[in-house]
Amino acid sequence: MKLEGKVAIVTGAGSGMGAEEARMMAAEGAKVVVTDINVESARKVAQDIGDSAIYLEQDVADEAGWTRVVEATLAQFGKIDILVNNAGMTRSEKLQDTDAAFMRRMLDVNVVGSFLGMRATMEPMRRNGGGVVINIASGLAFTSLPGYFAYGASKWAVRGMTRLASKDLAEYNIRVVTVTPGAIDTPALVPAVRENAKTMIPLGRAGGVDEFARVVVFIASDDASYISGAEIMVDGAMIC
Ligand SMILES: NC(=O)c1ccc[n+]([C@@H]2O[C@H](COP(=O)([O-])OP(=O)(O)OC[C@H]3O[C@@H](n4cnc5c(N)ncnc54)[C@H](O)[C@@H]3O)[C@@H](O)[C@H]2O)c1
Repeated sequence: MKLEGKVAIVTGAGSGMGAEEARMMAAEGAKVVVTDINVESARKVAQDIGDSAIYLEQDVADEAGWTRVVEATLAQFGKIDILVNNAGMTRSEKLQDTDAAFMRRMLDVNVVGSFLGMRATMEPMRRNGGGVVINIASGLAFTSLPGYFAYGASKWAVRGMTRLASKDLAEYNIRVVTVTPGAIDTPALVPAVRENAKTMIPLGRAGGVDEFARVVVFIASDDASYISGAEIMVDGAMIC
């Protein structure tokens, strides 16, 4: 029970890695708030977990929505120890095809959404003596894959923002860590990567959601109490 007594918010937890992180955190003793823009999927994940979870509809880009999520979490569970900024928008587009509206939405969801999450939870975490924020980046935040202009730029920003936040929030005893998926087998995984995993990924396969969630649980736990500002790669040696 690595997370006994902890309270976690996981965004975008209606699917993929976020859903597995929510399930695993609850299995490790945490109370979990499952949020997603797709309320039906969030409801299903929370109901499968049972009494340790609640679900909330949330677009992470909406500032007022963050106030509601924090208030509901405090009302239900009394505190916030862990935030996983997992919700993300993935789409392939070259710079030539990227208009300003798409660029703004990508940055709003992937960058501003994670910023708003940190802003909204830092005060409850400070009052509680500290906490941990886990920002989910991407292998594309370490390279420059052609055709992923807006997405790649947003995930580079997530990396940078994590490092800067880890310095600012250290005085509140809040750790901030980037965990980076390479290719993890979720609905968002590019089909060509799954099909060509043997040649593209040194370990020869996409990672499982459980293999990724276990790392997130470790970083969220007190076992990782001196890890802050770090970038943890979970990629089967694909990016390094
Ligand atoms: N799967 C991979 O290999 C991979 C690789 C690199 C990065 N990532 C990142 O990992 C994170 C999780 O991805 P996944 O693979 O589990 O994808 P997924 O599509 O299975 O899940 C993403 C979830 O985020 C939700 N979401 C999307 N926009 C939202 C918004 N504005 N507000 C709230 N929720 C929103 C979706 O409804 C969905 O339930 C994302 O940040 C993604 O960019 C995944």
